[in-house]
Amino acid sequence: MSSGDGLYIQLISVHGLIRGHNMELGRDADTGGQIKYVVELAKALAQHDAVDRVDLLTRQVIDPKVDSEYAQPEEELGHGAHIIRLTAGPRRYLRKEVLWPYLDSFADAALQHIRRVGRLPDIVHSHYADAGYAGARLTSLLGVPLVHTGHSLGRDKLRRLLDKGISQESIERQYHISQRIEAEEMALDNAAFVVASTSQEVEQQYSLYDNYQPRSMIVIPPGVDLERFHPPKRGHHQPALQKEIDRFLHDPRKPLILALSRPDRRKNISTLVRAYGENKELQDKANMLIVAGNRDDIMSMEKESRRVLAELLLLIDYYDLYGRIAYPKHQQSEDVPVFYQSAVKARGLFVNPALTEPFGLTLLEAAATGLPIVATEDGGPKDIVAHCKNGVLIDPLDSDAMGAALLEALSDRRRWLKWSKSGLNGVHRHYSWKAHIRKYIREIKKLHGGARKGKKHPITPSRLATADRLLVCDVDNTLIGDAEALDQFLLRLREAGRNVGFGIVTGRSIESTLKLIKEWKVPIPDLLITSVGTEIYYGPYVTEDLAWRQHNDYRWQPEAVLEAMRDLPGLTLQPTEAQRRHKISYIVDPDAMPSVREIMRHLRKLGLQVNVIFSHGAYLDVVPVRVSKGSAVRQVAVKWGIPVERILAIGDAGNDEDMLSGNTLGVIVGNYSKELEKLRGREKIYFAEGHYAWGILEGLDYYNFFGPNLGVPELEAQT
Ligand code: GLC
Repeated sequence: MSSGDGLYIQLISVHGLIRGHNMELGRDADTGGQIKYVVELAKALAQHDAVDRVDLLTRQVIDPKVDSEYAQPEEELGHGAHIIRLTAGPRRYLRKEVLWPYLDSFADAALQHIRRVGRLPDIVHSHYADAGYAGARLTSLLGVPLVHTGHSLGRDKLRRLLDKGISQESIERQYHISQRIEAEEMALDNAAFVVASTSQEVEQQYSLYDNYQPRSMIVIPPGVDLERFHPPKRGHHQPALQKEIDRFLHDPRKPLILALSRPDRRKNISTLVRAYGENKELQDKANMLIVAGNRDDIMSMEKESRRVLAELLLLIDYYDLYGRIAYPKHQQSEDVPVFYQSAVKARGLFVNPALTEPFGLTLLEAAATGLPIVATEDGGPKDIVAHCKNGVLIDPLDSDAMGAALLEALSDRRRWLKWSKSGLNGVHRHYSWKAHIRKYIREIKKLHGGARKGKKHPITPSRLATADRLLVCDVDNTLIGDAEALDQFLLRLREAGRNVGFGIVTGRSIESTLKLIKEWKVPIPDLLITSVGTEIYYGPYVTEDLAWRQHNDYRWQPEAVLEAMRDLPGLTLQPTEAQRRHKISYIVDPDAMPSVREIMRHLRKLGLQVNVIFSHGAYLDVVPVRVSKGSAVRQVAVKWGIPVERILAIGDAGNDEDMLSGNTLGVIVGNYSKELEKLRGREKIYFAEGHYAWGILEGLDYYNFFGPNLGVPELEAQT
C-alpha cells in the first residue's frame, strides 16, 4: 500500500459499540445494522486500489459495563483501514439520544487525529444524524467535502410517531428529535452528495427535508459480506447450534421460517407471530425460528426490548405455539450465517415483517445464502425483490395476508429453487461490496475532478490541521496600509506552502473584516479572530468556533456592564455595528476618562468580572473576563494542536499586546502605537523598522519563520 497518492477516506459513525470482529449486533438499540455497515464499508474501501487509508471514527467508551476493546484508541482492520476511537464527553457508554452535547468535542478530537496522521482526508463520510453534525462541523473547519448517509431519518420517525398518536412533547423528551432533525438538515446542507440505499428512501424520506436536493442523492445499495454469507457447504454441521434450535421443536425436519432482528417495536415481530398463530395450515407446514438478539433476564432489559420480548412470549402462549416456534436465548455473531443456512437446508424462508425497512441487509444475507424471502413492502425490500426476484412483498399490517403469503411461498418446490438461485445471482450482481465500492469511488473521483459541482465544493482546504507553524497578524495598520508590501507578503506566504497556517486578528467585526480584505484582495485566511478576540472563525467557509462562543458566555452580563459604564466620563459608545455579543466598545477622550485600572476596579466592585482593552489612544473595548486576542490565539493553538512557540504574532496596537507577549514569537511593526512601547527589550518581541506589511516581512526574516529552524536568532548572530 502506497501513501500519499491514493485517497484518504474518513468515515464517522458515533454511537453504538463498534469493533472489527465479533460485533455485538442486537446488544442494544444503537448496535445494529449501521455498525456492521460502516465496518464492512471501511474494510471494503481499503481494499480498492485507489484508496490509501480509511479511518472509521467513533466514540471511545471506557465503561466496565462494556468490553474493554471499545476503550482502545485504535484498532487495525487490515489493508490500511482502522477504527479510531475519539474521546468526547463522559467516558461511559451513552445512548445516541444524549450524545448531542459532545459532538463539537468529537469534531475537535477528529482534528487532533488528523494532525497525528499528518494528512487531510480527501472526503469525510458521516453516518446517521449525530455523525452528520460532527462531520458538517469537521468538514467546514477543514474545507474538505462531506458525504452523508442518514441510515434512518428523524422527520420520517417523527411522522410515524405522531401518526401513532404520541404527543410531540413526549417524542421530544424521549428522542430529542428536533435536535436530530436539525443535525440532519445541517448535514444535507453541507454534503457534496448523499449516499442512499434505495430510491424509496430518497423519494419518500429525504424529500421531507428543507435541504432536499435530489440531484445530489446517489442510490448505492449496501453491500453484503459474501465471504460470511453463502449457501451451506456439504458436510458442514453446527451440531451445538442445531441442538439449541431443535430443543424448541416437535418436528425439526419441517421447513423453517426464519426471522432475525433486534427486539424493536418497528421490526413488528408480533404481527408475524399472530400471522403464524392464526394460520393452522401454516403451523402444520413449517416451524418458525425467531432470533431477536441475546437475552439473559428480560426483566432487566431496556423498556422497548422488554416490551417486545414479553409480548412475543405472551403471544406464543396465547396461540399455544409450543413445539412449533424456536426463540433461542443466546447467539454469537458467527451463528448468524448458520441460522440462514439451517433455514436453507430445511427448504424454508426468510421473513422480514418490519413496519418499515430502510435497508433490508438481512434480506440480502438471506439471498446470499440461497434463502427465498418474504418481506415488508415498505422501504428497501422493494428494490431487493426487483433486483433479485427471490420472493414476495407483504403488507406488514395485515396478519392474515402475511400468513397466507408465507404458506403460498412454501407451497411450490420448483419455484422455491428458482427463487433461491435467482437470489444468489442477484446479490452477487447488485449487492456485493465490490459493486458498491466501484460506484462509490466513481462518485468521489467525479467530486475531485470537479465533474460533480456541489455548491459546497472546496476551493482551498484549510492548512490549520496539517500546518506545523502559524502566522497571525493584526489587520489595520499591520497587514493593510501599504499595497506593495501586502503583495510581497502574500506572494511569500503562497510560496511558503501548506505547512504554514495564516490567520488575521482584529478589533473589527467579521462583516467589516471580510469586506476590507476583499477590497485589498487578501484571500480568506485559515483563521479569522475578530472583535478583539471575542469571535473566532475558520476559513475557507468562515465557520464559527462554537466552543469559544460558549466559553465567552461565562459570567458575561452585557446589560449590567453598559449600566455600570454609563456615568464614567470621557466615554462615548461606538456605533451599533461595533457592538457585538461579547464586546462593548467606546470611543474615548483619553484626557477625560478614568484609567483602565480604575475602570476595571469600578466594575469589579459591582461584581462584574470583565477584561478592558485600550487601543490607539482612542478605543476602549469591554469583553468577557480572560478574553482577548491572545487568549483566542491560544484557543486556536489547542484546538488544532499547534505549539504556541511556533506561532508568530504581529501587531501594532494595545489590543495586540497579549498575543504578542508570552511564548509566541512577536513582531511589532514600525508604525506602532505607543501603548506597546513597554514591550521593548523582551526576548521574544522584535520591533521592526518597516511600516505595515514591510514590518511583517522583516519579522519573517528575523525569526527565519519559513525556514527549518524558526525561532529567536542565536545571541552571537545578534551581536
Ligand atoms: C476596531 C473596532 C472597534 C474597536 C477597535 C479596538 O477599530 O472596529 O470596535 O474598539 O478595533 O479594538
